[in-house]
Amino acid sequence: MADVVVVGSGFFGLTVAEQLASRYGVKVMLIDRRPHIGGNAYSEPEPETGIEVHTYGTHLFHTSNERVWEYVNRFTAFTNYVHRVYTTHQGEVFPMPINLGTINQFFRSAYGPEAARALIKEQAAELGGKEPANLDEQGVNLIGRPLYEAFIKGYTQKQWQTDPKDLPASVISRLPVRYTYDNRYFNDTYEGLPVDGYAAWLTRMADHKNIEVRLDTDFFDASQPFSKAAVVGQVPVIYTGAVDRYFDYSEGDLSWRTIDFEQEVLPVGDFQGTSVMNYADPDIPYTRILEFRHLHPERDYPKDKTVVVKEYSRFATRDDEPYYPVNTAADRERLATYRDLMTGEKDVFFGGRLGTYQYLDMHMAIGSALSMVDNKLAPMFGAEGSR
Ligand code: FDA
Repeated sequence: MADVVVVGSGFFGLTVAEQLASRYGVKVMLIDRRPHIGGNAYSEPEPETGIEVHTYGTHLFHTSNERVWEYVNRFTAFTNYVHRVYTTHQGEVFPMPINLGTINQFFRSAYGPEAARALIKEQAAELGGKEPANLDEQGVNLIGRPLYEAFIKGYTQKQWQTDPKDLPASVISRLPVRYTYDNRYFNDTYEGLPVDGYAAWLTRMADHKNIEVRLDTDFFDASQPFSKAAVVGQVPVIYTGAVDRYFDYSEGDLSWRTIDFEQEVLPVGDFQGTSVMNYADPDIPYTRILEFRHLHPERDYPKDKTVVVKEYSRFATRDDEPYYPVNTAADRERLATYRDLMTGEKDVFFGGRLGTYQYLDMHMAIGSALSMVDNKLAPMFGAEGSR
């Protein structure tokens, strides 16, 4: 029997496994129900073109956390890729997030920062100080009706399959507008993509003599030797699967949104000239199109073929991959009851996106796993290098 069982080989589970194995000499059994490691960050080459496709949607690495940056650089080098996003609205392409370029293109104007700021302030005053009653009013209140209706309303409606008038104002607390021409998507100190791909990075993290990986292994399959029934109470468990599933949905289901990915190989060298194109209008059923070749312009990809993926957003059922927590008031109440149940599970540590029911970027999943090792797990396994 291993010293610990880690359930889920996403960035959270991998980081915990790697740290326990390398710093504390702990023998780790890392299980995942999928046929590959790495959770949602996994990628693989599309067979016909060799273009690296991120299986669960585009993953851009970015962080301002020095400790995380130092840690991830032990396993991979990064390219100098800088992410930029564009959006198509009524047959015209605009830069995102909304910036001075977007504003001047949209209003056919040449405002400087102060004039643009004054315009948006005036347009955002439409509600006259009234408290926004729903997401639609909140959008108007934050950036004014013209920009909200062009760039946010239709996109939000598609993401949530719900009219923004029927969504709570709390879904968006801010809509950043930049009064410069800066259209870098992320503001972090460090940004880039793993030079030889995510799969290589993830595999290196698990490559340690103290880590055994078992794929296609569901924690809730009582017939397998590292199931919940077999290990809880025997060895410490780090659980990064869904928290409601762990407790057999006893307090009800937590709600998630999922994405359907529709992948195609097209007989052109370049389809859209950029990696991510959003579609803001409600009459286009997908929310965005990804074109993976643009994530690695330094690579020698075929010049006559490209891979594109259309994303369709919808509510998840229990059988779907859960991607984004919906986080309604009912979800928050259920989560609070699940948290009470968690405290009763001795030597089971809940972590990661699914285990804590919160959206985490990769650097946040890695950072919180490092903290869990320091604060909760290290005290159980003694001094570093002592085993
Ligand atoms: P993750 O979901 O990766 O891993 C959990 C693992 O547990 C999975 O492998 C699953 O199979 C396994 N598991 C679950 N139940 C199990 C069971 N019963 N038995 C065994 N195994 C089980 N971040 C970022 O920094 N930049 C980006 O651009 C993006 N983009 C992005 C796009 C989309 C569409 C999504 C959904 C997410 C992102 N992310 C992102 C977030 C990123 O994917 C996230 O930070 C990591 O997935 C978090 O890692 P975790 O280990 O917490 O979960």
